[in-house]
Amino acid sequence: MEGERPEELLESAFPFLELMSRYRCAMMEVETKLRVLDEEFSMTYNRNPFETIKSRLKKPISIIDKMRRKGMPLSVENIERTLNDIAGVRVICSFPDDIYALAAMLVKQDDIKLIEKKDYIAHPKPNGYRSLHLIVEVPIFLSNCKKYMRVEVQFRTIAMDFWASLEHKLKYKKEIDHSEEIAQELEACAEIISSMDERMQEIRNRIERA
Ligand code: GTP
Ligand code: MG
Repeated sequence: MEGERPEELLESAFPFLELMSRYRCAMMEVETKLRVLDEEFSMTYNRNPFETIKSRLKKPISIIDKMRRKGMPLSVENIERTLNDIAGVRVICSFPDDIYALAAMLVKQDDIKLIEKKDYIAHPKPNGYRSLHLIVEVPIFLSNCKKYMRVEVQFRTIAMDFWASLEHKLKYKKEIDHSEEIAQELEACAEIISSMDERMQEIRNRIERA
């Protein structure tokens, strides 16, 4: 920090800050699109397709760590090319059906490009993790150009989110005793949560048909 020309640091930081700012815009675009769908849903069907929506930008230190793990030299171009999850939006729904309905409505918008879809609800991870992940590209309109930016969108039910937060704690606390036992217990809870989500969904369907 105390180099000969501190302005050099700022000059090299600018393209990175500019990239982050673009990701922030893309994240806002996706969040707004989902909020618009929510608004329309509550007008038309008198209910909300999601409970909460949260956006986050990956921290610089996590970007550096991930680029290192992937063995990629650090540059603004490489970061943009390599990482799909710098901008992240998490949508928490009450019911599994709402997840698929919302995801379909988002993806069919004509300015959204679907890059990748991972359905960990239909195909849970071995540890029990469930969520629907989309990588989408959304255009942001700058003063003199239009630029497509990638955003990771994770859709989960409230129960899946509850599970994922607890599991996350296990993952980052490697030294806990009985961690194998805890992992098995978590896997069992994931199954219970999944069948509860389906039953709650079925109850809602019955109420709506009534
Ligand atoms: P990452 O390198 O971790 O981003 O994996 P990936 O690029 O193969 O993406 P994937 O779609 O599998 O996971 C992306 C994100 O989903 C992670 O950063 C987490 O937020 C979440 N996630 C994935 N698997 C798990 C899991 O087993 N437990 C929890 N708690 N979260 C998970
Ligand atoms: Mg990822």
